[in-house]
Amino acid sequence: MRKIRTYQDVPHDTGSGLLEQVLDQHHRLAERLALVRSVVAIASGKGGVGKSAITANLAAALAARGLAVGAVDADLNGPSLGRMLGVSGARLADRASGVEPARSPSGVRVMSMEFLQEEEDAPLRWREPSMGRFIWQSTLETGVLREFLGDVEWGELDILLVDVPPGTDKIARLLELVPDLDQMLLVTTPSETSRFVVSKSVRMAREAAVGTVALVSNMAGHTCLECGHVSDLFAGDGAKRLEEESGVPLWAEIPFDPRLGAATDSGTPLVITDPDADSSRAILTLADRVEEHVGIREDGVVEETGS
Ligand SMILES: Nc1ncnc2c1ncn2[C@@H]1O[C@H](COP(=O)(O)OP(=O)(O)OP(=O)(O)O)[C@@H](O)[C@H]1O
Ligand SMILES: [Mg+2]
Repeated sequence: MRKIRTYQDVPHDTGSGLLEQVLDQHHRLAERLALVRSVVAIASGKGGVGKSAITANLAAALAARGLAVGAVDADLNGPSLGRMLGVSGARLADRASGVEPARSPSGVRVMSMEFLQEEEDAPLRWREPSMGRFIWQSTLETGVLREFLGDVEWGELDILLVDVPPGTDKIARLLELVPDLDQMLLVTTPSETSRFVVSKSVRMAREAAVGTVALVSNMAGHTCLECGHVSDLFAGDGAKRLEEESGVPLWAEIPFDPRLGAATDSGTPLVITDPDADSSRAILTLADRVEEHVGIREDGVVEETGS
């Protein structure tokens, strides 16, 4: 049987320079991330639970506290973070030291596939070799994410947030690139279906020994702005159940708030425009937890930082 070699197995220059290129990319990524105190993934496994809206508001809230914050939109096919942070359509400058990220009005450095696409409604298409398209696509997607992390001039950051698209495979891909991820926030809703899907991501994060893993329950109840009546949007209590079953702490419960959706979708995170709204308060509590854990792994050991 023919053996398929990994990069590590290739003992010498292949003549194509491929091995050198890959090792060089790994090196660049490590150097770039050495200037970042904490890489924080906002993931779920489940789609449509509010990962991007939470990332945008969290980023703006942390930047408003004077922290140096970056945000990577790892959703290459359906990017939304630029829009939510008010930098939709930004054009990037390519310098010798790397691509300059866009700067949101709230002071967040942002990178998204959206900035590399000319037309707003253009779906992402890869120019991959026609043989084995599906294999190439995951390779190309991972390559782009590595470039977003390693070839962007992030500079010194306190926190780099990564908005991870749905699917546990996308979480695995990020963990490949950033094996010593500091924090992973797993966004779920009170629904039983969401608990079922997110429990797989909890296990994946645990097995990868992510520094700190925490749950965020989004769309946890809705308060009527007219009469104050509180109603549940979902029948279950999935987020709390997941906390009990897994032992992963629930750091925040964010209510469904049409103002949060409207403000975020128009590029002005609600935590900035209305920090007293219930949903903003919940996200600000989440920002407290994230900030407290910068540079500290769950076992309480303070990490060595490059700074
Ligand atoms: N708590 C909330 N209250 C009101 N609207 C919300 C809330 N959370 C998210 N939304 C809105 O719901 C929609 C879906 O959220 P979002 O795009 O952040 O989900 P997502 O998990 O990133 O989705 P995807 O899996 O496609 O990446 C957005 O319009 C967002 O503004
Ligand atoms: Mg999203």
